[in-house]
Amino acid sequence: MNVVFPGSFDPITSGHMDVLTRASKMFDHVTMTVMHNARKQGRYLFTLEERLQILRDATAHLPNVSVDSFGGLLVDYMAQEQKGIIIRGLRAVSDYEYELQIAHLNRQIGEVETVFIMAATRWSFVSSSMVREIASYGGDISEMVPRASASALKLKFADVYAEREASRSS
Ligand code: PNS
Repeated sequence: MNVVFPGSFDPITSGHMDVLTRASKMFDHVTMTVMHNARKQGRYLFTLEERLQILRDATAHLPNVSVDSFGGLLVDYMAQEQKGIIIRGLRAVSDYEYELQIAHLNRQIGEVETVFIMAATRWSFVSSSMVREIASYGGDISEMVPRASASALKLKFADVYAEREASRSS
Protein backbone atom coordinates (compact mmCIF):
# COMPACT_ATOMS: atom_id res chain seq x y z
CA MET A 1 0.00 0.00 0.00
CA ASN A 2 1.26 3.47 -0.95
CA VAL A 3 0.61 6.38 1.40
CA VAL A 4 1.19 10.13 1.56
CA PHE A 5 2.74 11.95 4.52
CA PRO A 6 1.93 15.64 3.93
CA GLY A 7 3.19 18.64 5.85
CA SER A 8 4.87 22.01 5.74
CA PHE A 9 8.19 20.47 6.88
CA ASP A 10 9.71 23.89 7.63
CA PRO A 11 11.99 22.10 8.44
CA ILE A 12 11.50 18.36 9.05
CA THR A 13 12.04 17.47 12.73
CA SER A 14 13.11 14.32 14.58
CA GLY A 15 9.42 13.81 15.43
CA HIS A 16 8.53 13.77 11.72
CA MET A 17 11.45 11.39 11.12
CA ASP A 18 10.20 9.07 13.84
CA VAL A 19 6.70 8.95 12.34
CA LEU A 20 8.15 8.51 8.84
CA THR A 21 10.41 5.65 9.90
CA ARG A 22 7.47 3.86 11.51
CA ALA A 23 5.30 4.45 8.41
CA SER A 24 8.04 3.21 6.07
CA LYS A 25 8.01 -0.13 7.95
CA MET A 26 4.22 -0.43 7.80
CA PHE A 27 3.57 0.57 4.18
CA ASP A 28 5.11 -0.32 0.81
CA HIS A 29 5.85 3.27 -0.12
CA VAL A 30 5.62 6.65 1.62
CA THR A 31 5.56 9.92 -0.31
CA MET A 32 6.59 12.93 1.77
CA THR A 33 4.67 15.78 0.17
CA VAL A 34 5.53 19.36 1.01
CA MET A 35 2.21 21.22 0.89
CA HIS A 36 3.11 24.68 -0.29
CA ASN A 37 0.82 27.68 -0.13
CA ALA A 38 2.18 30.40 -2.44
CA ARG A 39 0.12 33.03 -0.56
CA LYS A 40 1.91 32.07 2.66
CA GLN A 41 5.37 32.23 1.03
CA GLY A 42 6.61 34.87 3.50
CA ARG A 43 5.59 32.77 6.52
CA TYR A 44 7.99 29.93 5.74
CA LEU A 45 11.59 30.07 6.91
CA PHE A 46 12.80 27.84 4.07
CA THR A 47 11.86 28.10 0.41
CA LEU A 48 10.04 25.19 -1.18
CA GLU A 49 13.24 24.08 -2.95
CA GLU A 50 15.20 24.25 0.33
CA ARG A 51 12.57 22.18 2.16
CA LEU A 52 12.56 19.60 -0.62
CA GLN A 53 16.37 19.35 -0.56
CA ILE A 54 16.41 18.93 3.23
CA LEU A 55 13.75 16.20 2.91
CA ARG A 56 15.69 14.40 0.17
CA ASP A 57 18.87 14.46 2.29
CA ALA A 58 17.08 13.42 5.49
CA THR A 59 15.27 10.48 3.86
CA ALA A 60 18.04 9.24 1.52
CA HIS A 61 18.59 6.16 3.73
CA LEU A 62 14.95 5.03 3.40
CA PRO A 63 14.56 3.23 0.05
CA ASN A 64 10.74 3.21 0.01
CA VAL A 65 10.37 6.94 0.67
CA SER A 66 10.11 9.65 -1.99
CA VAL A 67 9.66 13.40 -1.87
CA ASP A 68 7.15 15.58 -3.71
CA SER A 69 5.37 18.93 -3.42
CA PHE A 70 1.93 20.33 -4.16
CA GLY A 71 0.42 23.81 -4.02
CA GLY A 72 -3.30 23.17 -3.55
CA LEU A 73 -5.78 21.15 -1.53
CA LEU A 74 -4.43 17.90 -0.16
CA VAL A 75 -7.47 15.98 -1.42
CA ASP A 76 -6.79 17.25 -4.98
CA TYR A 77 -3.22 15.97 -4.69
CA MET A 78 -4.47 12.61 -3.41
CA ALA A 79 -6.87 12.34 -6.37
CA GLN A 80 -4.20 13.39 -8.87
CA GLU A 81 -1.75 10.79 -7.50
CA GLN A 82 -4.50 8.18 -7.08
CA LYS A 83 -3.64 7.69 -3.41
CA GLY A 84 -6.19 7.10 -0.67
CA ILE A 85 -4.32 7.15 2.65
CA ILE A 86 -2.82 10.12 4.47
CA ILE A 87 -0.33 9.65 7.30
CA ARG A 88 -0.23 12.21 10.09
CA GLY A 89 1.80 12.15 13.28
CA LEU A 90 0.37 12.75 16.74
CA ARG A 91 2.55 14.00 19.57
CA ALA A 92 -0.02 14.72 22.28
CA VAL A 93 -3.77 14.99 22.87
CA SER A 94 -3.54 18.66 21.89
CA ASP A 95 -2.63 17.62 18.32
CA TYR A 96 -5.60 15.28 18.14
CA GLU A 97 -8.41 17.85 18.11
CA TYR A 98 -6.92 19.76 15.18
CA GLU A 99 -5.96 16.61 13.30
CA LEU A 100 -9.37 15.02 13.86
CA GLN A 101 -11.10 18.02 12.29
CA ILE A 102 -8.81 17.98 9.24
CA ALA A 103 -9.13 14.20 8.86
CA HIS A 104 -12.94 14.41 8.90
CA LEU A 105 -12.98 17.32 6.45
CA ASN A 106 -10.57 15.56 4.11
CA ARG A 107 -12.75 12.44 4.16
CA GLN A 108 -15.84 14.54 3.52
CA ILE A 109 -14.42 16.48 0.57
CA GLY A 110 -12.07 13.87 -0.85
CA GLU A 111 -12.98 10.41 0.43
CA VAL A 112 -9.49 9.86 1.77
CA GLU A 113 -8.61 8.08 5.00
CA THR A 114 -6.13 9.40 7.57
CA VAL A 115 -3.96 7.05 9.59
CA PHE A 116 -2.40 8.52 12.73
CA ILE A 117 0.98 7.36 13.94
CA MET A 118 2.09 8.29 17.45
CA ALA A 119 5.53 9.84 17.65
CA ALA A 120 7.77 8.58 20.46
CA THR A 121 7.19 10.55 23.69
CA ARG A 122 10.71 12.02 23.58
CA TRP A 123 9.57 14.11 20.61
CA SER A 124 6.30 15.25 22.18
CA PHE A 125 7.66 18.76 22.77
CA VAL A 126 9.39 19.18 19.41
CA SER A 127 7.78 21.19 16.60
CA SER A 128 9.16 22.93 13.52
CA SER A 129 8.11 26.31 14.90
CA MET A 130 9.91 25.76 18.24
CA VAL A 131 13.01 24.53 16.43
CA ARG A 132 12.97 27.64 14.21
CA GLU A 133 12.62 29.81 17.31
CA ILE A 134 15.54 28.16 19.14
CA ALA A 135 17.75 28.28 16.03
CA SER A 136 16.95 31.96 15.46
CA TYR A 137 18.74 32.63 18.78
CA GLY A 138 21.62 30.30 17.96
CA GLY A 139 20.46 27.57 20.39
CA ASP A 140 21.31 23.88 20.17
CA ILE A 141 18.77 22.09 17.98
CA SER A 142 20.97 19.14 17.01
CA GLU A 143 18.89 16.53 18.92
CA MET A 144 15.55 17.84 17.67
CA VAL A 145 16.10 17.63 13.93
CA PRO A 146 17.85 15.34 11.44
CA ARG A 147 21.34 16.42 10.37
CA ALA A 148 20.10 17.89 7.07
CA SER A 149 17.73 20.26 8.93
CA ALA A 150 20.39 21.19 11.50
CA SER A 151 22.89 22.13 8.77
CA ALA A 152 20.28 24.17 6.91
CA LEU A 153 19.23 25.99 10.11
CA LYS A 154 22.83 26.74 11.04
CA LEU A 155 23.40 28.13 7.55
CA LYS A 156 20.20 30.20 7.69
CA PHE A 157 21.20 31.69 11.05
CA ALA A 158 24.97 31.61 10.43
CA ASP A 159 25.49 35.14 11.82
CA VAL A 160 23.66 34.34 15.08
CA TYR A 161 25.53 31.04 15.57
CA ALA A 162 28.89 32.72 14.83
CA GLU A 163 28.11 35.55 17.29
CA ARG A 164 27.09 33.08 19.99
CA GLU A 165 30.21 31.01 19.43
CA ALA A 166 32.41 34.11 19.58
CA SER A 167 30.83 35.35 22.83
CA ARG A 168 31.28 31.89 24.40
CA SER A 169 34.97 31.64 23.59
CA SER A 170 35.77 35.21 24.68
O1 PNS B 1 3.02 20.40 8.83
P1 PNS B 1 1.68 21.04 8.97
O2 PNS B 1 1.79 22.52 8.78
O3 PNS B 1 0.96 20.65 10.23
O4 PNS B 1 0.80 20.45 7.76
C1 PNS B 1 -0.54 20.85 7.55
C2 PNS B 1 -0.95 20.48 6.12
C3 PNS B 1 0.02 21.17 5.16
C4 PNS B 1 -0.91 19.02 5.91
C5 PNS B 1 -2.38 21.02 5.90
O5 PNS B 1 -2.44 22.38 6.23
C6 PNS B 1 -2.82 20.83 4.46
O6 PNS B 1 -3.19 19.74 4.07
N1 PNS B 1 -2.74 21.91 3.67
C7 PNS B 1 -3.11 21.89 2.27
C8 PNS B 1 -4.40 22.64 2.04
C9 PNS B 1 -5.59 21.80 2.44
O7 PNS B 1 -5.85 20.75 1.88
N2 PNS B 1 -6.33 22.28 3.44
C10 PNS B 1 -7.56 21.65 3.88
C11 PNS B 1 -7.41 20.82 5.13
S1 PNS B 1 -9.04 20.60 5.69
